[in-house]
Amino acid sequence: MMCWRFRSAIKPRWSQAPVLTSEHLASEHLPSRHLLSHHRGQRTWIFLCILLVLIGLGSCGKPTGQPTTTVTLLCPGWVDKEFRDRREQEVAQFTGETGIQVKLLPGPESATEQLALWRKLLENGTGTPDVYEIDVIWPGTLAEYFLDLKPYLAQDAAAHFPVLVANDTVNGRLVAMPYHADAGLLFYRTDLLRQYGYQGPPKTWDEMERMAARIQGGERAKGKKDFWGYVWEGAPSEALTCNGLEWQASEGGGRIIEEDKTISVNNQRTTLAWARAARWTGSISPPGVVAYKEWDAMNIWRSGNAVFMRNWTAAYLLSGAKESGVKGNFGVALPPNGQAGAASVLGGASLSISRNSRHLQEAVALVRFLCRRDVERERARITAQAPTLPELYDDPEVLKTSPYFSLLKQGFLSGAIARPSTVAGKQYGNVSEEYFKALHSVLTGERSSPNAAADLERELVRITGFKTKAAVSTRVQPR
Ligand code: GLC
Repeated sequence: MMCWRFRSAIKPRWSQAPVLTSEHLASEHLPSRHLLSHHRGQRTWIFLCILLVLIGLGSCGKPTGQPTTTVTLLCPGWVDKEFRDRREQEVAQFTGETGIQVKLLPGPESATEQLALWRKLLENGTGTPDVYEIDVIWPGTLAEYFLDLKPYLAQDAAAHFPVLVANDTVNGRLVAMPYHADAGLLFYRTDLLRQYGYQGPPKTWDEMERMAARIQGGERAKGKKDFWGYVWEGAPSEALTCNGLEWQASEGGGRIIEEDKTISVNNQRTTLAWARAARWTGSISPPGVVAYKEWDAMNIWRSGNAVFMRNWTAAYLLSGAKESGVKGNFGVALPPNGQAGAASVLGGASLSISRNSRHLQEAVALVRFLCRRDVERERARITAQAPTLPELYDDPEVLKTSPYFSLLKQGFLSGAIARPSTVAGKQYGNVSEEYFKALHSVLTGERSSPNAAADLERELVRITGFKTKAAVSTRVQPR
């Protein structure tokens, strides 16, 4: 499921339940660290109390003598209408097939707040919720609370992308089942590229920079004063970690922390990649890009005011929607090559089962159902959500909705870069926060790129206790 939501998203049908709104979360932009954690903590606690009351009310309200079991599924609360409708149909189909009822519980909007809430519920030790939808970066953080699915779903898991199954396996335990795949992508305007004489999307970052500057200049000269070359996610958030990792890994600057538990971030390839992005800020990208999350970049792109955008798979359907200003005039590519190749960060979500669930068999049945071939296929066909089963990427019906899936498949099979969440385990949240804060300070001109990387390295050593590594060369695939 998409972890980022657009401001225009319509409230879910279960929005009688008090979901946090994006306005509440808008304060996430640039507050002090203390304030940020204080508000987050407070909101999470309020949310947790309301959720527990709702769960309690739910069970009290059950008609007596009814033999059916209800499994609760906790998922991010703000999703696009197509997806929401589809999920309700899926749940109804599951109940029809098995007689098991499903209660959907909506969580908060941002990945950071979801994690805080998920963790509190799991630490609480109550059996409910039974099933948790989790971001691909969380298996290492939450592994101890989840059931090992190997005895139940090992065979099913074997059919999914190996990179996703590996990501969901922590110390040999399959703590989650791949549910939907995601990857960082470059969206480009086909009409403008054609108009300015380009045959296709840029192959390298340098080419992208040159094309963006030229087209931006040309469009502005035609009177489009608000036109920009490249929009991306520069706010101090998880999405900036993803952008930064794509820039540095494609240049051979490594993955922040390597699989052998060495901290590799302080190297020249990385600092040059960061400095280049700082140069984009205010030139080919709006000065405000340092406060953009996915939906901010998306809004500029959809209004037709950018030639390139970095975003996730979910942006595909939204770019082609009838209210989109770029409908019919855009293409999708993997991010441009650096010296080492193209790096597209792996995203997506998986489904986990609480170790304390009192409905294990039913919860396993629900997870198996939601990750089943025919269910993923319909979901991909209708909502364009990227499946986790490679074979669906060759399915003509699925390709009709999302022709670019053949390109994505190639990314998932060979080039997708996972964030260092498995190796950092429970510390991943802190690692990512320190990374995006350091990079953000470079983008805003507060610190030089080498200083920020040196400070970050010290901080990561303190957080993880890992050793540093002098030089790295990550192999990534050329596009
Ligand atoms: C997308 C990705 C998810 C990532 C998030 C960051 O939702 O699927 O993995 O953590 O964006 O904003």
